[in-house]
Amino acid sequence: MNNSPIGVFDSGVGGLTVVREIMRELPDESIVYFGDTARVPYGSKSRETVTTFSKQIIRFLKTKDVKAIVIACNTASAFALHEVAKNADIPIIGVIEPGARTANNVTENGRVGIIATEGTVKSGTYEKVLKKINPNLKVFLKACPLFVPLVEEGWRYDSVTYEVADRYLNDIMTYDIDTLVLGCTHYPLIRRTIQKVVGDGVTLVNPAYETAKKLGRVLDENNLRAEGSVPVYRFYVSDSVKRFSSFAESILPCDIGHVECVNMEQYN
Ligand code: DGL
Repeated sequence: MNNSPIGVFDSGVGGLTVVREIMRELPDESIVYFGDTARVPYGSKSRETVTTFSKQIIRFLKTKDVKAIVIACNTASAFALHEVAKNADIPIIGVIEPGARTANNVTENGRVGIIATEGTVKSGTYEKVLKKINPNLKVFLKACPLFVPLVEEGWRYDSVTYEVADRYLNDIMTYDIDTLVLGCTHYPLIRRTIQKVVGDGVTLVNPAYETAKKLGRVLDENNLRAEGSVPVYRFYVSDSVKRFSSFAESILPCDIGHVECVNMEQYN
């Protein structure tokens, strides 16, 4: 069981930022990644739809004998984690609680900004989790819906992305925040642009680091950690294999090999 893979999923390429950290933090672990490229973005969809998609993906990942699952998508973590984790027979973790915990550790003035998809913002999950960790925090949210298509389009260093970021972030900067959570797994891919806009006085939090650490703790608690094995990485998508492959190659420190396209209808 210990050498079974970790299942990781997202609506598209964003979750690869979490995979990157899992590879660094837990180098012995094998990973099965699923990117729902046919149905991205999740951020503009309802709780019901995102929960249905998440359940299908979990069914698919289980056919790959995963020993634990990381929901590497803030929107799916916000909408579906609670429901899918409550009766699960393997550990399932999301990215919101690890991100919130890091933000609370990092902030000095207690004023924390969160940028995320519309769905994550509307769900209220970040405020709820942050306030539970530290009721004194002041939390300011901003939805940045155009960031996901810009990243998926590969315009990570484009002037258009800078302009969009400038427009979105001006607003949240008026609240004197000293910490900004990248509350969507696509956003670390435009981290440099975001940092340029908010300035060096604001610490950016990428929840992926703490998520990978939390995964390590969860594996230990459940006696599931792989040791000394050669990790195997497998990637699946629901559409456009070629596009996903070149993107994944550009951000992961390994050869991603063959990417398979899966029809999700069969996992209803
Ligand atoms: N990357 C995902 C997230 O963290 C979803 C982006 C989207 O599909 O809208 O929220």
